[in-house]
Amino acid sequence: MNYFILTGASRGIGEAICKKLLANNNHLLCVSRKKNNELISLANSKKHKLDYFEFDLNNTYEIEELMKNIFEKIDSSVIESLYLINNAGVYFTQNIEGTEPDSIIKMMNVNLISPMILTSNFIKQSEQYDIEKRILNVSSGASFNLSSGGSCYSTSKAGLETFTKSIGIEKSNVKIMAIRPGMVDTYMHRNTVNKKILKTPEYAADRILTFLFERFEHGKAVKAW
Ligand SMILES: NC(=O)c1ccc[n+]([C@@H]2O[C@H](COP(=O)([O-])OP(=O)(O)OC[C@H]3O[C@@H](n4cnc5c(N)ncnc54)[C@H](OP(=O)(O)O)[C@@H]3O)[C@@H](O)[C@H]2O)c1
Repeated sequence: MNYFILTGASRGIGEAICKKLLANNNHLLCVSRKKNNELISLANSKKHKLDYFEFDLNNTYEIEELMKNIFEKIDSSVIESLYLINNAGVYFTQNIEGTEPDSIIKMMNVNLISPMILTSNFIKQSEQYDIEKRILNVSSGASFNLSSGGSCYSTSKAGLETFTKSIGIEKSNVKIMAIRPGMVDTYMHRNTVNKKILKTPEYAADRILTFLFERFEHGKAVKAW
């Protein structure tokens, strides 16, 4: 059995990735604040394995407990590979002087702090398994393409990439990389007027999964297309 822990499964790119991963030999462990009932029904109808954890990644001190609960779903007698996809993210643009501290903190919690704590827990709790283990962090071109009003988002994604590269040089049998999707037609781009420039979530999911399975580059941050 291949196990996939994925954050941000309720919509957008995360939902599209989950739909593509639903298969006989895969067990999905999904995280987001709101349950994705369509995804759960789809998995049930095909008798595919999926567990959903309704969890707010702002609760950073509770992530350890969340990961304990997630790992309890893993059957050590059948596990063949284990993946963590840190996909959940929040986005806004606003000049920094007009940004509430709470918004800054929440963006850093979801985009940076929670992937760091999830990574730490993933490496620690998966030590017992001598199998293929990979972490994929969903970053953005905004990590280096800076824009006015985008300071918090860019900082969170630049931090995520630096974290990924740093873990890449730590001695571990877990592989890690970051991927930068281009612009995708999701809730994040609900206000984008020219929808023609946006790729579909399905396209993004295909590209991301190609890197996860076939083009994985340990310790690197790369463009998805
Ligand atoms: N769309 C793009 O053009 C684009 C481009 C480059 C990179 N990205 C990155 O791709 C990733 C997915 O983005 P998307 O476009 O699919 O965005 P989206 O449609 O807005 O989905 C974001 C996901 O993150 C989850 N999430 C947000 N806050 C959360 C919290 N506090 N706790 C738990 N889960 C939370 C949401 O679930 P709940 O609301 O149910 O919690 C949702 O499932 C993000 O990391 C984003 O930065 C997107």
